[in-house]
Amino acid sequence: MAEFVESASLKEARAYEEHMEQFISNDERPCFHLSPRVGWMNDPNGFSYYGGAYHLFYQYNPYATEWAPMHWGHAVSQDLLSWEFLPCALAPDAPYDDLGGCFSGSAVELPDGRHLLMYTGVAADGHNEDGSTKERQSQCLAVGDGTNYQKYEGNPVIDGATLPVGSSTVHFRDPKVWREQDGSYRVVMANLGPDNSGQIVQYRSDDGFSWQFDGVVARNAGRYGIMWECPDLFELDGKDVLLVSPQDMLPQGHDFYSGNGTLCIVGALDKATGELVEESAVTIDHGIDFYATQTLLAPDGRRIMVAWMQNWDSTTGISPAQRWFGQMTLPRELSVRDGHLYQWPVREIEGLRTNEVCYQDVKLDGEPIALEGIQGRVADLLVHVRPADEQNPYDEFVMWFAQDERFHCSLRYRPAHGTLKMSRIHSGSRRAFVHHRKLDVEGAPLELSLRLVLDKYSVEVFVNGGRQAATMIVPTEPSADGISFFSRGGAVVDVKKYDLVEPAEAAAR
Ligand code: FRU
Repeated sequence: MAEFVESASLKEARAYEEHMEQFISNDERPCFHLSPRVGWMNDPNGFSYYGGAYHLFYQYNPYATEWAPMHWGHAVSQDLLSWEFLPCALAPDAPYDDLGGCFSGSAVELPDGRHLLMYTGVAADGHNEDGSTKERQSQCLAVGDGTNYQKYEGNPVIDGATLPVGSSTVHFRDPKVWREQDGSYRVVMANLGPDNSGQIVQYRSDDGFSWQFDGVVARNAGRYGIMWECPDLFELDGKDVLLVSPQDMLPQGHDFYSGNGTLCIVGALDKATGELVEESAVTIDHGIDFYATQTLLAPDGRRIMVAWMQNWDSTTGISPAQRWFGQMTLPRELSVRDGHLYQWPVREIEGLRTNEVCYQDVKLDGEPIALEGIQGRVADLLVHVRPADEQNPYDEFVMWFAQDERFHCSLRYRPAHGTLKMSRIHSGSRRAFVHHRKLDVEGAPLELSLRLVLDKYSVEVFVNGGRQAATMIVPTEPSADGISFFSRGGAVVDVKKYDLVEPAEAAAR
């Protein structure tokens, strides 16, 4: 493997981000969600535990708050909440492989202690019939020490010629690599199959460098959108779990929505065919801004997921004018119970809690109420609502947050329909894209528990212990910190609120 040589493009990106960083104050960044060092961020990449720290790379254009040929930004953390930026890890600088961008990928540690990144190189490949440039996507490697990564001289290591006949070589991306117990490697990738619908292909390797096609793990067959992006495949609580992000979806009830969505398939891998036998398929997050999940296996055995807290169809105009755009979700611990994926904020966030304020058995009926001490925009809020009278349940429970005289966001639950509606219609956005979403709460229970994690420009909602989740960006100024409650028909609510402090402040306590 050649020594690390910093290309002109990488050098330029590193110098640029280092210079620009001084113009972005910490105050304007989220408190504990990762945002890009400068410029644009999309998918999480290379999420891994390496050299005693969590590494989170991201799709990155340092030069503007819009997408352009992708670099990989890089940050590290001890607690998954407080992130320290490292120099840009990859730039699109390899003429044959990736001048069109270093697209999404993942990371694994090699037995000799080096960190292996696998990413999709996008390159020009002749012309389409209409004269436009044809793209080729293939999988490339870079090896490094946790800071500097040298692209492998043998790139690309997997190209489209190895795919099943009729599969697209243009849509072949987002490798998620892992090491098996026996020391061999597997990688799954997203691909557009011969039926013009997404398929997830798997390759295997003994050393991480030389790869053979292994089979098709899952096929969309026209069910959930068209192409599937960003696959992740892992075993959890006795089940095999596939996460993908479908493009161009059509809605199905309140389960899936138009555009870019996410999908969790729980099942069992058939040992003979290598195919995933599906038992259930659900949206991972029912909110508005959630895409491109990636997980890691933490040293303590937790399966932890992050996603891009954004959606391609609402990438303009949602946040205030800033020199950065895009955030990652809070890392979430995953589990499978009764064949169903559960998500819960990483337990590290409990270390940021302060100022507990607690109310029990607050009666609601017909008048909006605010509770002394229950407010905040960087907060962890636990809410449990139930009918005042089981025989005569409430029609509707509403909770407003990020609220001032003019603006608010809301969550509205109607037990008779079992629907929970998340809305930012009155959050101050002047753009006409999706501002509300509904989800069907499983079983339409009369009692509902909600956990809201608020961080300046976002809310992540966990329903009934994490059985469902819904995430959205909140564009309202953080000074709008009101929270209030309402019910039509008698309801009783318990509320517990903690403020969340900056991770650095928590560490100093
Ligand atoms: C998903 C995605 C990936 C691709 C990357 C490019 O959001 O489209 O499929 O690798 O973004 O930035």
